[in-house]
Amino acid sequence: MQAYFLDQPQQAVGAEKLYAEGIYYAQMPVDEEQYRAPLDAICRERGYVAQDQVHLSVSTPNLEPLLEKFFQEHLHTDEEIRFVLKGEGIFDLRDCDDRWMRVHVVPGDLLIVPPNKYHRFALTDAMNITCKRLFQNQDGWAALNRKGV
Ligand code: LAC
Ligand code: NI
Repeated sequence: MQAYFLDQPQQAVGAEKLYAEGIYYAQMPVDEEQYRAPLDAICRERGYVAQDQVHLSVSTPNLEPLLEKFFQEHLHTDEEIRFVLKGEGIFDLRDCDDRWMRVHVVPGDLLIVPPNKYHRFALTDAMNITCKRLFQNQDGWAALNRKGV
């Protein structure tokens, strides 16, 4: 994970700033044998009841509209949990002063965006990511787009 302010890229954002913003970050092993137990523990502690795995790349059908949707600034009323297994991605997260923090995630990064925090997602130039998504309810993914920005 590497993070910085989008309006001032030389200004790094550390894990402490992310924690202060209510964002949880942890580094996990990418080997399933090794991550299963710690991931199960997190799921039990935080009440995650469902999961799936998402892969995005140039060969993903309808990639363009998907990426357009993910890059719309939005929030969820549940936590957004992403565990990167392969590839890389960009999460832009608003801090409490409405500044964008750009978080570049790589394999082993587990990122938990708290409820009601505006964010958006993009692929990097590598155009490839595989991540696990964990959910707090069975209803799946719902996003509320931010208006007027
Ligand atoms: C999501 C990411 C793209 O909501 O923010 O899945
Ligand atoms: Ni989201």
